[in-house]
Amino acid sequence: MTEKELRALLEDMSLREKIGQLTQLDASVFNDEGPVTGPASELGLNDDDAYLCGSVLGLTGAAETEALQKMCMAKQPHGIPLLLMADIINGYKTIFPIPLAQGCSFEPEAARKVAEIMAKESAAAGLHVTFAPMVDLVRDARWGRVMESTGEDPYLNSLMAAAMVEGIQGQENSYEDRLAACTKHFAAYGAPIAGKEYNNVELSERSLREDHLPSYKAAIDAGTAMMMTSFNTLDRVPATASKWLMRKILREEMGFNGVLISDWNAIGELIGHGVAQDPKSAAELAITAGVDMDMMSFSYACGLEKLVEEGTVSEQLIDESVWRLLQLKNQMGLFENPFRSASTQQESELILSAEHRLAAREVAAKTFVLLKNEDQLLPLEQDDSVAYIGPYIEEKSILGAWSFFGKTEDCVSIREAVEARGVQAEYAHGCGVLNPGQAIYGFRYDTESNLTEAETEKMIADAVALAANKTKVVIALGESNLQTGEGGSRGDITIPDIQKKLLEAIYAVNKNIVAVIFAGRPLDIRDIKDKTKSILYAWMPGTEGGSAIVDMLYGDTAPQGKLSMSLPYSVGQVPVFYSELRTGRHTEDGAEPTNRFLTKYCDIPNDPLYPFGFGLSYTDFSISPVRLSSDQLTLDTTVKAVATVKNIGNREGVETIQLYIRDEFASVARPLRELKGIKQVKLEPGQEAEVEFEIDTNMLRFYDINMEYKAQHGDFTVWIGNNSKTDNSVCFTLN
Ligand code: GLC
Repeated sequence: MTEKELRALLEDMSLREKIGQLTQLDASVFNDEGPVTGPASELGLNDDDAYLCGSVLGLTGAAETEALQKMCMAKQPHGIPLLLMADIINGYKTIFPIPLAQGCSFEPEAARKVAEIMAKESAAAGLHVTFAPMVDLVRDARWGRVMESTGEDPYLNSLMAAAMVEGIQGQENSYEDRLAACTKHFAAYGAPIAGKEYNNVELSERSLREDHLPSYKAAIDAGTAMMMTSFNTLDRVPATASKWLMRKILREEMGFNGVLISDWNAIGELIGHGVAQDPKSAAELAITAGVDMDMMSFSYACGLEKLVEEGTVSEQLIDESVWRLLQLKNQMGLFENPFRSASTQQESELILSAEHRLAAREVAAKTFVLLKNEDQLLPLEQDDSVAYIGPYIEEKSILGAWSFFGKTEDCVSIREAVEARGVQAEYAHGCGVLNPGQAIYGFRYDTESNLTEAETEKMIADAVALAANKTKVVIALGESNLQTGEGGSRGDITIPDIQKKLLEAIYAVNKNIVAVIFAGRPLDIRDIKDKTKSILYAWMPGTEGGSAIVDMLYGDTAPQGKLSMSLPYSVGQVPVFYSELRTGRHTEDGAEPTNRFLTKYCDIPNDPLYPFGFGLSYTDFSISPVRLSSDQLTLDTTVKAVATVKNIGNREGVETIQLYIRDEFASVARPLRELKGIKQVKLEPGQEAEVEFEIDTNMLRFYDINMEYKAQHGDFTVWIGNNSKTDNSVCFTLN
């Protein structure tokens, strides 16, 4: 449609039709019990209102979406097509590792590839938009949704956010055979107080700008078509009602001119926050703040018409929102072809294709983090006598908490992968994932361990007997998939007690233990660290998880992942992250244990168990001292920082070299160090390569005492290393 035709359409629409466009309903509203059920009807939403809605979420399938599109368009006064959206976060049917694991690849190209494949599969299934990428910065392992983020660092998150938007939307945001991206959750949903789900967020404006906004900005600069508001408050104002956040920051400062949708019932929840007394006043706050679409709160459908009629809200505001939505539908070609890429034939060709499964297996290998490997217990030899033990040996619920459209039966478990390899192995569950009788109430399904204590005792005894007769043990442990994701905040971030008991019993008879950990968050793994020689952190690895893990256990692939989020010593450290601010009494861990009057704990270490950026491989690398092209930088010059990396081991490997910078003196307190560059090198044994970073003043900018974003003259320290604790540094001065 031309812009002129689109304008004419907007002008011809009734107010009620416009408001319908701004309403998004879940597909369940259009189920066979009649279109409108539950709270919608209680709020006065009737069938006609439902058919006027501009967007539906949660429905996929070429045939199913086509049928719904036809039904709703037939009831639309101007036949305006629906915008069909769903949560495709780390895969549609071919499921990839959770985004937190993708962050551990430190390879934006890997994340882009995942986004491309998930977009193609779901576009063929009739979808138009995905509620992804989630780019919230996360530093609190208690929060269940850390699994959905790419981690604790603004620089890494920004690279990943841009790559994911590009993968989802395609080159030049053509959406061709892809989707539109809806980046979320604006803003800072990842910093809830105490890691408690939906909790309030208390951040300084400077921390919001320095730490949390960069990844949203990267998504906007990459062209994200939509943005979603977050549930939380910021400065005690619910984000969904915040004019400052949504109009001044998001639109004016960050330049976002796409469609802004609320999170699920987030407008309705303004009542819960105590800032609105009814749906109508909630609608007034949200539309005034600039929220274009109301996801499943019916506040717009039930309140906006009255607000316009009584003159409280101008129809102009509504027209602005409807115009942005019509433009998006037009950019996606929906007026010409409401069914876009939906195709049952394409579905059958693309979904879970061999190519996509291979990609899932390859990406998963990049996300595993080898935390320890004593006596080079890994990789295993083909003829090793191995006992495979633990609840995750056969567990297939390893897709991650936001993979509703993926099927566990399509997953490859560790056991299936070992059997496919044809190596000598025996298996024993040992125990369930959860403690006997423990129940977890999920988002779409519940689970509980129906094993009794007695049954579990027997399972442990069988596992011990097996372990005693084998030279090596691979034990696969972890938190339940349902202990992570939305509503998955945990105060105890260890594996279930029954699994600790199993490990204890196995350790008593065999010390050659490799642990493979499944988790949606950094766990407190001290128990596991003390009783194993090798630890491979596999996160929630997706459809080909078992295959990718076994490939790595036997050395077909080598670990290269680096932690995208610090692994805490204990939950008492949380939130723990490498780029902490300096203080008046900062101490490097271990220094002056007798001096209590320093920034530290008196009962646990300051440092995490494993730091951001850390990860081993099957070989070793040396990194030379840093060399600078000059130790003087000016506002319009650059300085090159170089180090020579050498593979000093006996296997090929990939090393991720990281550049960190510290501002030694500034008008506000600055972090101890900040990641400013990533380079990956693949080296054969004995091979070496020069890794070079170019430093310019843009990398040194920060929000100064006047909240101006600029660099300040003075001394800086630069590190080049393979994790955030590297001490390989030199200094330079910005003149
Ligand atoms: C949820 C989530 C959001 C998701 C939306 C639609 O509550 O917060 O990330 O996209 O609802 O499912």
